[in-house]
Amino acid sequence: MSELVCKEIAVQDELSEDYDHIRYINEYSVMYQNTWFKTMISLVGATGLILDNGCGTGTLMEFLPTKDIIGFDISSGMLNKAKKRMNILVRGDSQRLPFKDETFNTIVCRGVLHHLQDTKEGVIEMYRVLKKKGELVILEPIQSVLSTIPRKLIKGSEHFSEIHKDFKKKELINVIQNKFRIEKIRHFGYIAYPLLGFPDVVDCFRYFRFKKQVASFLVDTDQLLQRIPMINTQSWGIIIKASKQSGKRR
Ligand SMILES: C[S@@+](CC[C@H](N)C(=O)[O-])C[C@H]1O[C@@H](n2cnc3c(N)ncnc32)[C@H](O)[C@@H]1O
Repeated sequence: MSELVCKEIAVQDELSEDYDHIRYINEYSVMYQNTWFKTMISLVGATGLILDNGCGTGTLMEFLPTKDIIGFDISSGMLNKAKKRMNILVRGDSQRLPFKDETFNTIVCRGVLHHLQDTKEGVIEMYRVLKKKGELVILEPIQSVLSTIPRKLIKGSEHFSEIHKDFKKKELINVIQNKFRIEKIRHFGYIAYPLLGFPDVVDCFRYFRFKKQVASFLVDTDQLLQRIPMINTQSWGIIIKASKQSGKRR
């Protein structure tokens, strides 16, 4: 295992504590995080075996339509926390998935591709282990007018290893499109995203008064911005639904 990957694992082991004690516990953060979970999972159509690739602490679990799920992650810290939510957990590297070809009906992959040294390899592996006509639903942060400067500012913090990438939207779409057929794209995350979503990174929300009212206003504002053409593309993140089409030349 390379030194970079070891560092990434150390960052993630440490972060697993923050996930379980701050990010997915803080009332206002949960309020926002759950809206993306729901949006992402609303795109999962297939039934059958699901792979949660880079499952972290397993928070996506309760939103998925079936319990027939395998959680996969490189960090044992994350997997230890996921044990209370998921029954089947496997540790390994998403760039070399330890599963046979055409094993899964669906793969969900939330916020993982930008952690991989070789994004292309991660996508090829998901293609390999998906059944024909299987679905991939990924969520990733992307560069935009809103996100570029704040991301540069927090990049040096202990939450980020040197591997972390800051994808351009086109770059991410291209790497997925290289193997899959893209079915849907949803932009998400505008004002509520940085203010509510990551209290373990920056707890700006602690300075607000009338937290509940402000939080629900911000969540509603983000939902509204998501529907306005042109503006909605300037989001902090993107959700892509893609399918494995057997007819396409690879
Ligand atoms: C931003 S977290 C997202 C976790 C989870 N999907 C969620 O939404 O809460 C990224 C996850 O990817 C995992 N990860 C990073 N590099 C990986 C790799 N090479 N193979 C598998 N998992 C990896 C990390 O351990 C971490 O759990």
